[in-house]
Amino acid sequence: MHLLITGGAGFIGSNFIHYTLRHRPECRITVLDAMTYAGNKASLAPAGDRIELVVGRIEDANLVDRLVQACDIVVHFAAESHNDNSIANPLPFVTTNVVGTFTLLEAARRHGRRFHHVSTDEVFGDLELDDPEKFRETTPYNPSSPYSATKAGSDLLVKAWVRTFGLNATISNCSNNYGPYQHIEKFIPRQITNVLSGLRPKLYGAGANVRDWIHVDDHNSAVWAILDRARPGSYYMIGADGEQNNKAVIELILELMGKPRDWYDHVNDRPGHDLRYAIDSAKIRSELGWTPRYTTFHDGLAATIAWYRDHADWWQPLKKAVEARYAKQGQ
Ligand code: NAD
Ligand code: TYD
Repeated sequence: MHLLITGGAGFIGSNFIHYTLRHRPECRITVLDAMTYAGNKASLAPAGDRIELVVGRIEDANLVDRLVQACDIVVHFAAESHNDNSIANPLPFVTTNVVGTFTLLEAARRHGRRFHHVSTDEVFGDLELDDPEKFRETTPYNPSSPYSATKAGSDLLVKAWVRTFGLNATISNCSNNYGPYQHIEKFIPRQITNVLSGLRPKLYGAGANVRDWIHVDDHNSAVWAILDRARPGSYYMIGADGEQNNKAVIELILELMGKPRDWYDHVNDRPGHDLRYAIDSAKIRSELGWTPRYTTFHDGLAATIAWYRDHADWWQPLKKAVEARYAKQGQ
């Protein structure tokens, strides 16, 4: 099986490649990645020459046509992925997430290729803290930020291509991921690398916002369950029952790293900040028999802290610029 993996030099895509090389060594892998600020060749180094990396953009119709024709399945991770960046400058989000996904869909339609679209639970908006309902496959779309609006747009394009053109496509909407190779602009690696750099963690607002954390390997095993066993045109929520508020996450990072639990700063809140995400993953568990391996957030977080401690050469070159960008926003 020949996989075309878009965004394979990013956080989840690179972990998907390492997961695939470990568990599905028979697969041939081509990566299409624009190597934006979020793409990192060092994240692919362990794969060596077992993969082919094509540097290019998913909106490049000629390049995409050629690569899609040559593969059996497209696994689409490429995106502009950070909410704070989408608030500062939304245009790249429209270009990559909407136009890029459209370009891939058209090529998959022309060549009759299977397509899996990797998306987020953020397309559903947010929940109240005490809402007993969680996001499910039937929850109406209600995105809040330019990031989530463009991901919602890309999901709806996929659904239209399935219904109107009969494209053999699936979508997964996953909750917040953590693990190795995550860009240090994101919440958990930012705080871990702050502590490793002697800086205090930074909490937006009061920190009551809740995210439903899942280890990236569990996300990727769920994507494989969908590739292996899902019906064409089916959609799945992916989550591991990992709800935590941001304040509790910072306190746990500090505790695991041997610092006082109150050694952090409150900084400016994010405009339009979603309050709570929570996933009901009953469908993928019952229909496809998927279960997460990391069942305690504590253990997954401890392993992630150890990874950043051991891989300073991967993140240190980025740290100064990331913190300078946040400082300008009072964050
Ligand atoms: P990331 O920002 O770490 O990686 C994105 C990758 O896409 C980078 O390698 C970047 O170079 C590449 N890219 C960006 N624009 C491109 C373009 N125009 N053409 C080709 N390549 C381009 O993102 P991530 O956290 O790994 O997220 C991957 C996917 O998973 C995204 O679609 C995201 O919406 C989704 N997702 C992420 C999370 C999460 O917690 N990080 C949760 C659910 C879903
Ligand atoms: P983030 O990792 O940006 O993911 P998302 O916006 O997709 O949920 O942020 C996770 C949560 O952490 C979110 O509620 C914003 C908050 N946050 C902080 O409190 N401090 C930070 O330094 C960052 C980057 C995020």
